[in-house]
Amino acid sequence: MALKNLIEAKQLLEQGVLGELIADATKFEESDKTNSIPQLLDGKVLAALFYEPSTRTRFSFETAMLKLGGEVISTESASHFSSVTKGETLEDTIKIIGGYADVIVMRHPDKGASKRAATVSPVPILNAGDGPGEHPSQALLDLYTIKKEIGRLDDFCIAMVGDLKNGRTIHSLVKILAERKNVLIKLVAPCELQLPGEYVKLLEEKKVKFEKLSDLDDALDADVVYMTRIQKERFESKEDYERVKDCFVFGKNELAKFNKNGIILHPLPRVNEISPEIDSDPRAAYFRQAKNGVYARMALLKMVLGK
Ligand code: CP
Repeated sequence: MALKNLIEAKQLLEQGVLGELIADATKFEESDKTNSIPQLLDGKVLAALFYEPSTRTRFSFETAMLKLGGEVISTESASHFSSVTKGETLEDTIKIIGGYADVIVMRHPDKGASKRAATVSPVPILNAGDGPGEHPSQALLDLYTIKKEIGRLDDFCIAMVGDLKNGRTIHSLVKILAERKNVLIKLVAPCELQLPGEYVKLLEEKKVKFEKLSDLDDALDADVVYMTRIQKERFESKEDYERVKDCFVFGKNELAKFNKNGIILHPLPRVNEISPEIDSDPRAAYFRQAKNGVYARMALLKMVLGK
């Protein structure tokens, strides 16, 4: 069981991969509590190549590498501070960095950029988000969180809320959920931000139960509510964004009606879609989810670096 890189969530469906990653993430989380993480990646170097802003993905990958004994090289903002500004192609950049580092974590505004990088890279590429495409390591940490919080990855109802069109974390998670048993997916979005056809087709082909909804209240019986940000940067006009920007807000009223055993997730960053007033409720799991990213990514680094 091994991955050479992680470009799309469907790779997590390869025989035994998801189970091994979740088991390793659990072990790393346990060993972190006793400061006894094995230094498996001593002497290895991770390059963080981010052409778009990031807080969680970049810092959690870097933390994961450091906790495993490895080193990190990174650029503040690759679109401004790498030789892209001089006209260097993505392919050349990857070939060069692949000569310095043992693994490259890359975020890029273009869908498919990680796939392009992987075709020329001498070292593993980990897709940290390719425009409105995918964010597979986020799906991994989301699944790790769901397993930890509700105890299962089958037989549950998840409401996906917000910008399902541009939300790459949604796209990656849907690909995995389509393969699980007895998962009901409630897709809560304005018409223009509903899940793209290719993912709806997948759900239909896999005979996954799903509902398209326009009212968050109709999804508050779910075991997992997965809120997402309306992705301002992917809109063509300010007016289009303004029309939908606050369409779903999970606040105190929603919390009062929400499943008593449910959890609220969000890949973050949030804008207005979750009121800070509900942060202290035990069902608000999004900060725990963000921390889980470190352990999920430790497991992933261990796998692709063959340790
Ligand atoms: N969840 C996520 O991708 O967050 P960042 O944009 O901060 O990396």
